[in-house]
Amino acid sequence: MNIDILLGLQWGDEGKGKIVDALSPAYDVIARFQGGPNAGHSLEIQNVKHVLHLIPSGIFHPDKLNIIGNGVVLDPAVFKKEINELGPPVEDLVKRLVISTRSNLILPGHRILDAAYEHHKGNLKIGSTLKGIGPAYTDKASRNGLRVGDILNKDFLKLYKKQLNNHLLILKNYSFEFDLEEYEAGWFEGVEMLKKFRLTNTEYLVNELSDKGKKILAEGAQGTMLDLDFGSYPYVTSSNTISSGACTGLGFSPRKVGEVIGIFKAYCTRVGSGPFPTELNDETGDQLRKRGYEYGSTTGRPRRCGWLDLPALNYAIMINGITRLFITKPDVMSGFGTVKVCISYKIDGKECKEIPYDSNSSIEPVYTELPGWQEEISGIRKYEDLPDALKKYIDFIEKETGIPVSLVSVGPDRQETVFR
Ligand code: GDP
Ligand code: IMO
Ligand code: MG
Repeated sequence: MNIDILLGLQWGDEGKGKIVDALSPAYDVIARFQGGPNAGHSLEIQNVKHVLHLIPSGIFHPDKLNIIGNGVVLDPAVFKKEINELGPPVEDLVKRLVISTRSNLILPGHRILDAAYEHHKGNLKIGSTLKGIGPAYTDKASRNGLRVGDILNKDFLKLYKKQLNNHLLILKNYSFEFDLEEYEAGWFEGVEMLKKFRLTNTEYLVNELSDKGKKILAEGAQGTMLDLDFGSYPYVTSSNTISSGACTGLGFSPRKVGEVIGIFKAYCTRVGSGPFPTELNDETGDQLRKRGYEYGSTTGRPRRCGWLDLPALNYAIMINGITRLFITKPDVMSGFGTVKVCISYKIDGKECKEIPYDSNSSIEPVYTELPGWQEEISGIRKYEDLPDALKKYIDFIEKETGIPVSLVSVGPDRQETVFR
């Protein structure tokens, strides 16, 4: 039971990157299990901000092994750019990063299809990051995908051309302009970059390391409310972002799982379309966006902001089997006289705590109000030094969820962390 899973409980951007980096010293291996370059995981080290898309957030610790698992969809062009911008030389990075041969490739055609599909959805757009995620997972499920291991096949170019033709056939039905060559050049350079790394059947590696007693942290991307099965379908991503996704995305048994750590922001954000019951389209929402710098790490889009949603949080805790909660960004809420928490929903006049099946349901949030905290808290490192009002806010969440909050993040830097 030495594989812990850390994942987001809301709509993504809960602060996973920062926390994984801060926790990495306690682990031997950090492994991504799903998603792809739609993720944007930020971490800050001595005032330098890094945003990771494909590479696990343990990469800045030279003595840790990072794994990109089979459940991830990998765009070689994004990979190359990220490797080049990371800082450490490639010769060092190849010692710290291993990639699954079974990870599916995002092809140039996938990015074009993603854009074409979104374009034709009119006002029902998902708000995709347009990184090719949906079409790449579609090809995986329809057994047309190309995988990382295929780049070593002498007929790789033939395989690539075959799938490109399939994509071009689909695109004929869409009146959508695109520039394939623009994507292709960078993509093939990325394939060459990938070949420098150790490409292997990482499921063996993960299980061998775990059997030797090494501590592994599985790093989720996106969040539970964006899960393909349990999120607000169709306004979701195309992978299983939940704890069971870690088993399928890395190839280990549920019997090996230790802690399932759920991260949530002290408030809520969402980027892209879809239901967001506690959204604040007012000055308070603007304040949260401004103070929390709530702009997408991958696309730069402004994030929608709102109060904490307990029915959604409890749903996420149930689906994932969360054993510990980590709260992030309460520092952003300093200065509010009172803060609100949604404790239930009103749907068609009836109060309930269940997440409705239909993403078009009109939900009215039912709030309770708690005292706010006024102090600047980013310098605090001991739990007992946090303002009483914040501790009461955390007590309330623990009471309503039944799960202990064992870490409070008080700023974006890895040091700005209060362990409890
Ligand atoms: P991720 O996708 O879950 O890794 O989260 P993102 O990196 O997309 O978004 C979280 C944002 O909040 C980033 O800009 C982080 O640097 C920042 N952040 C993380 N934790 C904290 C915190 O406790 N306080 C503040 N103020 N910012 C934080
Ligand atoms: P991290 O890992 C926040 C959202 C998109 C869109 C929907 C589908 O940084 O938390 P996709 O590109 O997957 O087809 O988009 O999911 N989305 C995210 N929102 N954080 C993310 O990742 C996201 N990855 C995808 O905005 O609404
Ligand atoms: Mg993010």
